[in-house]
Amino acid sequence: MDYKVPAGNPEKPQGADGYALLERMNAGHHEMLANWGLSYLSLADDARVLDCGCGGGANLLRLLAKAPAGKVCGIDYSDVSVNLSRETCAAQIKEGQVEVVQGDVGALPFDDDAFDAATAFETVYFWPDFAGALAQIKRVLKPGGVLFICNESDGSSEKDQAIAEQIDVMTLYTPAQLKDAVREAGFANLRVMHDRTRGYVCVLAEKPRA
Ligand SMILES: C[S@@+](CC[C@H](N)C(=O)[O-])C[C@H]1O[C@@H](n2cnc3c(N)ncnc32)[C@H](O)[C@@H]1O
Repeated sequence: MDYKVPAGNPEKPQGADGYALLERMNAGHHEMLANWGLSYLSLADDARVLDCGCGGGANLLRLLAKAPAGKVCGIDYSDVSVNLSRETCAAQIKEGQVEVVQGDVGALPFDDDAFDAATAFETVYFWPDFAGALAQIKRVLKPGGVLFICNESDGSSEKDQAIAEQIDVMTLYTPAQLKDAVREAGFANLRVMHDRTRGYVCVLAEKPRA
């Protein structure tokens, strides 16, 4: 079967097609994935959370719902994603509960030990230096802070493989590959959740305390 990459550049959304693509991601299958993955993530009420590759921003609101007295910061290197995230979270930005920053996960513009949790939904496929980005995330997490990666593809479906072949910068990861990368980056207490029927996978891990 012929599988086509959706218009709009999922790896770095651009233009009107990118905006429409992100609006679809904010709901639809990304919503199902996020709700599945977030059922495994516990956050303190006042947690400071970083969402890497925040896209259209719907997950910023889902994270804020889990940490209502905290603060959620989204980062994305696409200006279309940053703009839509800012629209999606306009009220929460005004209240100082959400911030959206334009930047690359390979060079996070935050202090060391700044966040209690860092999340990455549907984005690690596109990080050219996965190890380097994990090192950056580890740097900005507090000791004991949680890394959470959530992918709708465990790399096994023919459709996902066909799409990844069409996007130069896209890499699919099996659950074992994700786990190895996170362990090699120096995280501890790894847990992997895998829904084999839907192909969903998420990895939870902690920055060691000492
Ligand atoms: C498929 S979208 C997913 C968006 C959102 N996380 C979601 O689940 O709906 C991938 C997002 O990751 C962003 N992204 C990819 N590589 C990035 C990088 N190196 N730094 C920052 N953002 C990145 C893209 O710009 C895009 O907005």
